[in-house]
Amino acid sequence: MNSVANQTLSFRLRSNENLFGPSPKVLDAIRQNAGNYNLYPGALPDALYQQVSALHHVDTRQIVFGAGSVQLIDIMIWTFCGADENLIFPQGSFVAYRLLSEFHNRVHKIIPTINFQWNPEAILEAIDDKTKLIILANPNNPTGTMISHDAIENFMDSVPENVYVVLDEAYAEYVTNPDYPDSNKLFKNYPNLIILRTFSKIYALAAFRLGYAVAREELAQLINAHRLPFAISELSGIAALAAINDQEYVKKCARINAEERGYLFREISQLGYHVLHSQSNFLYLYFETADEKEALRLHLLDQGIIARDITPFGHPKGLRFSTWHHEASLKVLNALKSCQDR
Ligand SMILES: Cc1ncc(COP(=O)(O)O)c(C=O)c1O
Repeated sequence: MNSVANQTLSFRLRSNENLFGPSPKVLDAIRQNAGNYNLYPGALPDALYQQVSALHHVDTRQIVFGAGSVQLIDIMIWTFCGADENLIFPQGSFVAYRLLSEFHNRVHKIIPTINFQWNPEAILEAIDDKTKLIILANPNNPTGTMISHDAIENFMDSVPENVYVVLDEAYAEYVTNPDYPDSNKLFKNYPNLIILRTFSKIYALAAFRLGYAVAREELAQLINAHRLPFAISELSGIAALAAINDQEYVKKCARINAEERGYLFREISQLGYHVLHSQSNFLYLYFETADEKEALRLHLLDQGIIARDITPFGHPKGLRFSTWHHEASLKVLNALKSCQDR
């Protein structure tokens, strides 16, 4: 496998990327189609729409692509919510939800979690007649925790139909828990549900900035109408098509990730650290104090490991790092041990 982080001295484990890099078939497609840099991009390949629609069993008119899924989150926040309306998301979730709500000056209700798990009752209580949007990252970033199919289904039964619920499934392909939502099925039953996916994580194309939403047609078209023209490069579409066509590679990355994630979880727990069960490509450690967290973060940095301080996510006592190959797992474990020995 092609190693991206190997090219640097550090183990850059801070951004939940797929550090194995894209599949060799994707790299070939990029090489073969390089060029025409002076021209504005054309439309994304029809075949990409076909593949995504086959993956989600939806019509191509129910799919909208964005320059990263974060661009779609951005558009949904300022188009679905008017200036006097609001959106809701759980505390300690993907930081962009808060940052973009602040940027667009949209009222946002951040609902406290219980033991790092979402609190659906509290979210339902927070809905008022000005609520337009609820965003749930599943698995959640930064904790890696998962909401089950049944829990989402129960929740959707109580959400008013005029409130849109975004299931942000950026890390879906890494999930191994069989209770993970079948969002395609949910999508058929709840017209206010929107599925969000990205090519930045397991497909290893973060630099190409491509994500998509699956939404009922008029919503997909509404989002589409608010996109900047030419925001997505043609090469991104070509790379994404090759990536989605190579599901063997996706499975291979998911398998290795599950092995290393499980191994790290067991070893880190044995060392006495507090670590959460993750369904994603990262692990979350939490500490008694922010100082303890910071001491470990700096120690890791000293050992060439860049972990993510997730204070901006609302977790000042938490530290997150990406999972990768076994050598990286051993390096992290050695650093965690040597921090205890100091
Ligand atoms: C939960 C979640 N959603 C969306 C994104 C953004 O992904 P993209 O690169 O597609 O904008 C991230 C990136 O870290 C994420 O963690």
